[in-house]
Amino acid sequence: MSSVMVNGTRVETVRGDISCEQVDAVVNAANRALLGGGGVDGAIHRGAGPELLAECKALNGCDTGDAKMTRGYGLPAKHIIHTVGPVYSESGPNAARRLASCHRRSMEIAIEHGLKSVAFPAISCGVYGYPVDEAAHVAANTVVEFVTEHPGLELVRFVLFNDEALRAFSAQIERAAGAGGHTP
Ligand code: APR
Repeated sequence: MSSVMVNGTRVETVRGDISCEQVDAVVNAANRALLGGGGVDGAIHRGAGPELLAECKALNGCDTGDAKMTRGYGLPAKHIIHTVGPVYSESGPNAARRLASCHRRSMEIAIEHGLKSVAFPAISCGVYGYPVDEAAHVAANTVVEFVTEHPGLELVRFVLFNDEALRAFSAQIERAAGAGGHTP
């Protein structure tokens, strides 16, 4: 677990189930159809309930690297920001750029809507096969860079489902924040 302050935003890592997070928005690791799935997507749709699927159907999908927001319905979180990560084996040199875009677009949407707290899972690190250390490096750099340039978020929390991801994301957040000279 780690927790650092970057330009007025607390950036932290915790072990847990993202569908239980009580934040302004949880980020869903969705697919381009936005019609549900397993992993994070399954947990979020189970917790939100059938109204979420109805709202998602009206969104007409989402491109890889982009993000779209819905209400949280039965979740403790007020909103869900659905983003579509890259499939690692299909992305080649574009993988990091697309994964960075998922994080940037999600935080842009949060700020556009005046949200203060966002929880991310380890996007693309499950079914989509992104190596955890590489994904953590991209996610940490993108989040630290974004909050350095865009004040307004109070909390960005990475919610990791296993110890391997928790260790990787904690180390990368501390590295990225330390590189920018930010306080713990
Ligand atoms: N809370 C937090 N993290 C979770 C949870 C949960 N409830 N369930 C799984 N994870 C972790 C996984 O262990 C992995 O580290 O989230 C990470 C992302 O895994 P996936 O959910 O498989 O997401 P992703 O790799 O982006 O694949 C997306 O999977 O579920 C389908 O519909 C989804 O097609 C899409 C694809």
